[in-house]
Amino acid sequence: MSLNVITAPELIAMKTRGEKISVLTAYDYAWGRLIDDAGIDVALVGDSLGMVVLGYENTLLVTMEDMIRHTAAVARGAKRALVVGDMPFMSYQISENEAVRNAGRLIQEGNAGAVKLEGGAHMAATIRKIVDIGIPVVGHIGMTPQSVHQYGGFRKQGKDEANAVRIKNDALTIQDAGVCAIVLEAIPSELAAYITESVHVPTIGIGAGPDCDGQVLVAHDMLGLYDKTVPSYVKQYCNLWDTTLDAFKAYNEEVKGAKFPQRK
Ligand code: KIV
Repeated sequence: MSLNVITAPELIAMKTRGEKISVLTAYDYAWGRLIDDAGIDVALVGDSLGMVVLGYENTLLVTMEDMIRHTAAVARGAKRALVVGDMPFMSYQISENEAVRNAGRLIQEGNAGAVKLEGGAHMAATIRKIVDIGIPVVGHIGMTPQSVHQYGGFRKQGKDEANAVRIKNDALTIQDAGVCAIVLEAIPSELAAYITESVHVPTIGIGAGPDCDGQVLVAHDMLGLYDKTVPSYVKQYCNLWDTTLDAFKAYNEEVKGAKFPQRK
C-alpha cells in the first residue's frame, strides 16, 4: 500500500510555504476520484454524511460503521488527496482507550491517512494518545456540530470576548497536543485570522473568513445537492439538484413514452 501524495506533514509544510489548502467533503468512491482529478488537497469524510447522504437532522446518529464504510469508499477513489476520516459522536468521548481503538479502525479498516475529532482543551489528552500511537489528528473547534443541543442550534461561536478567548486557548492547547491541522468552524473572521497567525499548524476555515490557511466546504452544499437550509457562508458553484432532477424527469418520460431504450 503506497501513501497518498498529500500527507499530514505535507499540510504543515504547505502552511510554511504559504500555500493555501483546499478541502472538500467526500462520501464515496466517485467523490474521491473527482477530488483527486480536481487537485483538491484533502478529502474529508465528514460526519456531515449523516445529514447530506443519510438524511438525518444532524450528525449525532452517525456510527463508526457508517464512517468506516464511507471512508474506505473514498480511499478507494482518492490516491493523491489526504483522506481524513471523521470520528462520529460517542466514538472518542467515553474513554481515551476507546478513542484510540476507533481512530485505529478508521486507519486500518477505512484506509484513512488521518482522523478528525471535535473539541478543544478538554480533548487534548485524547488527541495526544491518538497522536502518540502514530495517527495524525485534525482538530475541529469553534462551532462543533456534535454539540448542537448545547448551542440550541448550529450557531456561530466566539462572538463575545470570553468565548473568543476560550476558542483561541483551545487552538493553542490542541496544537500542543499534536494536531496536524485545525478546522475552525463558524467563528468571526478576525478571531480566525488571529488564531491562524498564532499557530504553526494550518487552520482550515468553514464560515471563518478568508485568512485561514485553507478552506473546507460540504460538497453537497457547494454543488446545490442538499434540499434543506445551507449556511449563509456557502458559495454554491452549481445546481446539481436541478440538473439531476431534469435528467430523472427526461428518463422517466422516455421510459413511460416507450422512447427508451431504442431497438438498435
Ligand atoms: O462533517 C463535516 O463535514 C465537517 C466539516 C463541516 C468541517 O466536519
